[in-house]
Amino acid sequence: MKKLVFATNNQHKTEEVRTLLSGEYEVLNLKDIGCTTDIPETADSFAGNAELKSSFVAENFHLDCFADDSGLEVEALNNEPGIYSARYAGERGDEANLRLVLQKLEGEKNRKARFRTVVSLIQNGERFLFEGTVNGTIRKTPTGGNGFGYDPVFQPDGYEQTFAEMSMSQKNEISHRAIAMRKLIHFLKEKAL
Ligand code: IMP
Repeated sequence: MKKLVFATNNQHKTEEVRTLLSGEYEVLNLKDIGCTTDIPETADSFAGNAELKSSFVAENFHLDCFADDSGLEVEALNNEPGIYSARYAGERGDEANLRLVLQKLEGEKNRKARFRTVVSLIQNGERFLFEGTVNGTIRKTPTGGNGFGYDPVFQPDGYEQTFAEMSMSQKNEISHRAIAMRKLIHFLKEKAL
């Protein structure tokens, strides 16, 4: 079976994709291929960072690879936190990041935001990008205990709940990451035929 690396250290994400591609590809993560390098994410876009990760593996391990990069873009904050989503308030964690967004939006009427994921695939030396977006609004008060990151303040359009009030399976049906991953899986399955 063809090998395909998912440039992540997240075991949960790996298992999800492995299940979706079982029978068609052998999905390995960074640990599986013995890659212990902290791959720098120094680009100025999600696509750029995803490409840095996938090309690091393709070049150093000579294997086909895909990588993802995600974040929250708030319209009234000029699309911040964007690529800085994980460390918007420094290295102080999810709660501090979320509080900083709420603080910056105090008194702001435009609460529009979106989550974005870009997946970069390098296969046989060719590069492909897949994108997933979910539009929504930033609530004034965090609600819900599920999920992670900005989930307690993000209410996707068309829903009454925040991502953090949804079950994992409900969020996984509509999330930015799920949309981008579905596009990738669809592409890979067509190619494997
Ligand atoms: P990553 O690229 O998937 O590691 O995401 C980078 C950062 O974006 C995370 O650390 C979170 O702060 C934020 N983020 C990405 N996806 C989500 C999500 O589904 N819910 C909440 N926050 C997210």
